[in-house]
Amino acid sequence: MNTPRMPDMRPANPNFSSGPCAKRPGWSPTVLENAVLGRSHRSALGKSRLQAVLDKSRALLGLPDDYRIGIVAASDTGAVEMALWSLLGARGVDVLAWESFGAGWVADITKQLQLDDVRVLEADYGQLPDLDAVDFTRDVIFTWNGTTSGVRVPNGDWIDADRDGLTICDATSAVFTMDLPWSKLDVATYSWQKVMGGEAQHGVIILSPRAVERLETHTPAWPMPKLFRMTSGGKLNESIFTGSTINTPSMLCVEDALDGLNWAESIGGLKSLIARAEGNLAALARWVENSPAVDFLAEVPETRSSTSVCIKIVAPWFTGLPADGQDAAARRIASLLDAEGIAYDIDAYRDAPPGLRIWAGATIETTDLEALGRWIDWALAMTETEFAA
Ligand SMILES: Cc1ncc(COP(=O)(O)O)c(C=O)c1O
Repeated sequence: MNTPRMPDMRPANPNFSSGPCAKRPGWSPTVLENAVLGRSHRSALGKSRLQAVLDKSRALLGLPDDYRIGIVAASDTGAVEMALWSLLGARGVDVLAWESFGAGWVADITKQLQLDDVRVLEADYGQLPDLDAVDFTRDVIFTWNGTTSGVRVPNGDWIDADRDGLTICDATSAVFTMDLPWSKLDVATYSWQKVMGGEAQHGVIILSPRAVERLETHTPAWPMPKLFRMTSGGKLNESIFTGSTINTPSMLCVEDALDGLNWAESIGGLKSLIARAEGNLAALARWVENSPAVDFLAEVPETRSSTSVCIKIVAPWFTGLPADGQDAAARRIASLLDAEGIAYDIDAYRDAPPGLRIWAGATIETTDLEALGRWIDWALAMTETEFAA
């Protein structure tokens, strides 16, 4: 077999990691020049920057006026765990999991909080659990976009508008690129390093009035670390939602988050962010359509993520390999592309089936994904010559 020919076009930006994700087009460290450094985050200046992040995020996302939004510690994980530890235990729980992050929330609820009335609704990588089986008289915990399988819920139609329980949604990798029905989400969480390509370590938590009511009327049966405490004396700590934070934030990260929000505003807001990601998914779908060696891991088209696109390899030379051979071959494809400076960090998540995971969120340019598709075909052909022998 001849050595496969390298494509001519290279992605201008090889950063396709699913987190931290590519910076926005045109980003440079100079955007951080006005960061409030060496000053207290509780100074008027510091607080105004934190408040600006909250205000701009609220406006961009179209949050209802009576929803709270606050910056918390420990990224999306911190925000989700703060919600689980603070809110659960008042009624039964339905928790959905179809990939690694959802499975992590199941473990928190069953093994750490050890709640006894828990139903776990699970599905394999590539699928969604039966959404019609969810009982909204209970608290419902789910991930909007399963980043490690590339499977998202198609919309919020399955969520009961008139529910008794709370909905707690891990919305990182979804927020800012998917249309989230706020009236159906009582808690939503995310982190800055995903769709907006911001710097990591801070989480954002959004609360509906019903979530606040639960916080003020329910006292969890377990100890509550200071970092998770959203109430004081049975009342919501409103300062978390008005530019204060429980502990010290990085004002450098805050400045970077502001830059991302300003960029999003400048390109036309949420609609444009969504359109960019959907356009990227469409470009990858055209490549998948034309490349018989690959397919989406997500089986149902409406559930295919527009941010974390997970690809399985279906070529017979690959599927005929034993499990460890498939793993090695998929990693070889990713490492060839890495070595050529074409794509960094696109191997599948460590717990997911062997394959590729390509970030296609709003900071990624469609032309780069078009070029990447051709290079993956090249890397597949190279790897086939090595593994199929
Ligand atoms: C769906 C989902 N939940 C949670 C996390 C963990 O996020 P963080 O590292 O911001 O805590 C990730 C990270 O990729 C994710 O994609």
